[in-house]
Amino acid sequence: MKAIGIVAMGMYVPPKVVTNADFEARMDTTAEWIESRTGIRERRHAGPGVYTSDIGVGAVRDLLRRDPDALKDVDTVICATATPDALFPSTAALVAGQVGLAGAGAFDLLAACSGFVYGLSMAQGLILAGTARRVLVIGAEVLTTIVDQEDRNTAILFGDGGGCAVVGEVPEGYGFQDFVLGADSAGGPALYQRCVAPTLPGGTPMGEKAGMNGREVFKFAVRVLGDSGNQVLKKTGLTPADVDWVIPHQANLRIIEAAVQRFGIPMSKTVVNLDRYGNTSSATVALALREAVDDGRVQDGQQLLLVAFGGGLSWVAATMKW
Ligand code: ACO
Repeated sequence: MKAIGIVAMGMYVPPKVVTNADFEARMDTTAEWIESRTGIRERRHAGPGVYTSDIGVGAVRDLLRRDPDALKDVDTVICATATPDALFPSTAALVAGQVGLAGAGAFDLLAACSGFVYGLSMAQGLILAGTARRVLVIGAEVLTTIVDQEDRNTAILFGDGGGCAVVGEVPEGYGFQDFVLGADSAGGPALYQRCVAPTLPGGTPMGEKAGMNGREVFKFAVRVLGDSGNQVLKKTGLTPADVDWVIPHQANLRIIEAAVQRFGIPMSKTVVNLDRYGNTSSATVALALREAVDDGRVQDGQQLLLVAFGGGLSWVAATMKW
């Protein structure tokens, strides 16, 4: 079987920083409460008139700045997002059209915060089936459009941003090893967005905002991150001691700490950047991996474990050699 993995990555976050102190100034919360309960210090807000396709294009432009040939042979685009610009056209198609990939196959994937890693597994499958040669997988969100900015339970958690990866053939011994994908609608009522906000230019966001039972999601997250991480390690024939870096979904520092404890991997081997971006849903794993490669933590040939959870409730875990 061909080895398939990530050959290039990009990321983008909007410039506007919203700190915990900003929330403290306008609602019944404190900066200290937010940081101690979540680990989040600040997040980015896209602001009016910025759509998920803009964030996705920003991430792809970053990819092209790093490697102008990065999109060569890309024939399929997947955008994982819970905040598409519209139901159709797909945000994947909107991004493709702006980065010189018009004509490529393009579709959106909705698995909430698990979406980017789900997308990596779809990309691998398309390439191994011979359907695609290289696939651009984007995880991008403008969560501020669906999160009630007056609700202290949710507003403090979420931020806007995006990341992308080109998936293609890599040398033997590198790339994806195994994936575990799951979802269980029994947990659906704990985290939901009943209707998407039509955010095409000129459109008005409509419908109710996202709803969440934080305690239920917390308990679920710790369980499925731990279980799915252990499952994928077992499937790959690895032990936790073989893992150089865990790249988890960035929702809450306490969730991450409890989850990695369940597979006995120390926090010193876990990438955390939610302090600066909060929870950007389908973008978190891409942002964390891109930054950990940039700052030299993740190095050539290292063993990675990717784990995420989200609305669905859904979960995903993956092993890969960087
Ligand atoms: N400031 C001050 N008090 C607050 C705030 C706030 N911003 N938000 C909630 N509270 C209050 C609550 O109202 C509650 O008050 P009550 O006891 O009088 O009812 C109290 O703080 C304690 O609430 P808990 O739910 O026990 O607090 P907890 O320690 O569990 O932290 C949190 C809440 C941060 C939401 C946590 O449960 C969590 O992170 N859950 C997971 C959320 C998550 O990951 N969501 C996204 C998942 S996937 C996706 O991204 C789509």
